[in-house]
Amino acid sequence: MPILRRRGWEIPESQVTAESLMLNRRGVLAGAGALSIGGALVAPRAARAQAAALTRNPTFEAGRDLTEEKFSTTYNNFYEFNDSKNLWKEAQAFKQRPWALKVDGMVKQPRTFDLDDLLKQVQQEERIYRHRCVETWAMTVPWSGFALSQLLALVEPLGSAKYVMFETAQDKSMHGLNAPFYPWPYIEGLAIDEAANDLAFMVTGMYGKPVPPQNGGPLRIALPWKYGFKSAKSIVKMTFTDKRPSTFWEAIQSSEYGFWANVNPEVAHPRWSQAHERLLGSDERVPTKLFNGYAAFVAGLYTDRKSEKLFM
Ligand code: MTE
Repeated sequence: MPILRRRGWEIPESQVTAESLMLNRRGVLAGAGALSIGGALVAPRAARAQAAALTRNPTFEAGRDLTEEKFSTTYNNFYEFNDSKNLWKEAQAFKQRPWALKVDGMVKQPRTFDLDDLLKQVQQEERIYRHRCVETWAMTVPWSGFALSQLLALVEPLGSAKYVMFETAQDKSMHGLNAPFYPWPYIEGLAIDEAANDLAFMVTGMYGKPVPPQNGGPLRIALPWKYGFKSAKSIVKMTFTDKRPSTFWEAIQSSEYGFWANVNPEVAHPRWSQAHERLLGSDERVPTKLFNGYAAFVAGLYTDRKSEKLFM
């Protein structure tokens, strides 16, 4: 029987967005950083310098203004802390170093990386991506990090690996973990060809600084063609497997949150139309695009998967 408990992200936007967010105009531009919340306080100097030195990859332009940092870093979904949008202060207690990423399962080179060592082995860059939450809010963020395909090259998945599963942190600072309703840990997953797609981006920075804990520091993923819940935060483990992972929201309510979860304005969520999105930090509503506007990069992944429930 489906569980009918109402979760934080099912509350209509108008009820959960602080008035100051609703009234504010969009739009500071690149290089924002006057308002650093959280991350700079907890990250070591080397990581700060690293994030600042990156060049922006011109392939990934957003076609809209950046969301002001003060909105994207204070309006978050991170259920391990709590199920409100206002968790950024609480998240500051979450230590970001040392950080280990374990990679196991069907790979030639199973390894546990220290995050700072891993960063020395990959080419980092900055990309501007749109982010679309299934709750219908959207933001545009300059992320920094490295293509997931580079990590694949380091660990060498076996030919038999069909999926990669992401497992995220469970820390004593996360009081939401005491909520028995949720099937912790937060698990997400991708098919192996999705993981190898150039758009799949491992994120360590945001607005030229380390990504703060409330946004999934020190290591999250950004998958801009999928609804935001696929972009797992604070990743500690990746397992390569031949079985499709049972993901966090799918395990809770599969009729509403599927494995593929690709953005499509024509496929409504049972409780929300997905035709439009509201830009975080403004009242502006804009039409949502198929694959969140990234069809040129990813549509080909799905031509042979027509029998799957690709869009929710
Ligand atoms: N990852 C973890 N570990 N826990 C979460 O609750 N929420 C997801 C995703 N990743 C979530 C998560 C959802 S629903 C969204 S929309 C995005 O993170 C929100 O990212 P943001 O807070 O940086 O905007």
